Amino acid sequence: MSTRLLLRRAIIPIAGLGTRMLPLTRVVPKEFVPLAGKPVIQHLIEECCRAGIREVIFIVNKNNRPLLEKYFDPQHARYMRSIKSQPAQRNAADLETLMRTMRFRFVLQQKPLGDGNALLEAKRFIGRGEWFFVSLGDLLVQPSGSYIKEMYQIARKHNGYVLATDKVPPHQVNRYGIVEPAKRLGARLLRVRDIIEKPEPHQAPSNIALIGKYIFDAGIFEELERTAPDKKGEVKLAYAIAAILQKRKKTILAYQIRGRHFDCGDWGGLEIAARKFQPATKPL
Ligand code: UTP
Repeated sequence: MSTRLLLRRAIIPIAGLGTRMLPLTRVVPKEFVPLAGKPVIQHLIEECCRAGIREVIFIVNKNNRPLLEKYFDPQHARYMRSIKSQPAQRNAADLETLMRTMRFRFVLQQKPLGDGNALLEAKRFIGRGEWFFVSLGDLLVQPSGSYIKEMYQIARKHNGYVLATDKVPPHQVNRYGIVEPAKRLGARLLRVRDIIEKPEPHQAPSNIALIGKYIFDAGIFEELERTAPDKKGEVKLAYAIAAILQKRKKTILAYQIRGRHFDCGDWGGLEIAARKFQPATKPL
């Protein structure tokens, strides 16, 4: 199969401030919060690995860069191997697989000027016509991996961008980007008319929420470059998607995941994940 037909790369922006998890995030980046025996970021990378992705571009800041470089380094796997406890050995095996099969790049976002601004930092690594996966750094999905492959197949079939979604309780819609559906295309698939950022419950067009996982091609960078910063000076990915919808430049599809999502970016979400998240039983 031609490599262009494979989904090779993921971009993971993790250069934000993590203010919802203060005071911890003054000292510990939120992606290193432990969940079921591993930092959240390792679960995220394992999900990419299971989907066949072979390169991860982390968009980092000055604080978390040294930690990530140390964590995703072959030395770390070797060190874990030298510790003779069972959990260390199990973790070493997964880390070794990640180190053997994946390549990691670390790209600095100078200032936290929004998730869209962070994504633009990866533009130079993505080829024309290449499709790639984007995951925000604090959202996990179970079952992992297979949904990414399904999203990619949908993107290819419809030549459109695919946004992972999950249904949320109506009183929580004001915490998410919410999909206004245009047309149902299948049991798990909708064409999107609009995305409403954090609407009040009575104004929400649905309870179908974006969960920070996307399949794009390089066209998203052009739109991000045209997207004006908001009042805080931040370039938001959601606004670029809304602009594409408005100009009808590309079909945008909402894919309902099979399992459930976990938002590990605030204390409440992390508590739910700590109770419900099931660690993968099979080694990578
Ligand atoms: P969030 O909207 O959750 O922002 O970003 P945040 O800074 O992480 O957390 P809060 O809201 O202050 O608590 C979604 C993802 O985009 C990344 C974040 O690191 C997170 O993975 N991001 C956000 C960047 O990489 N750069 C930014 O400028 C903003």
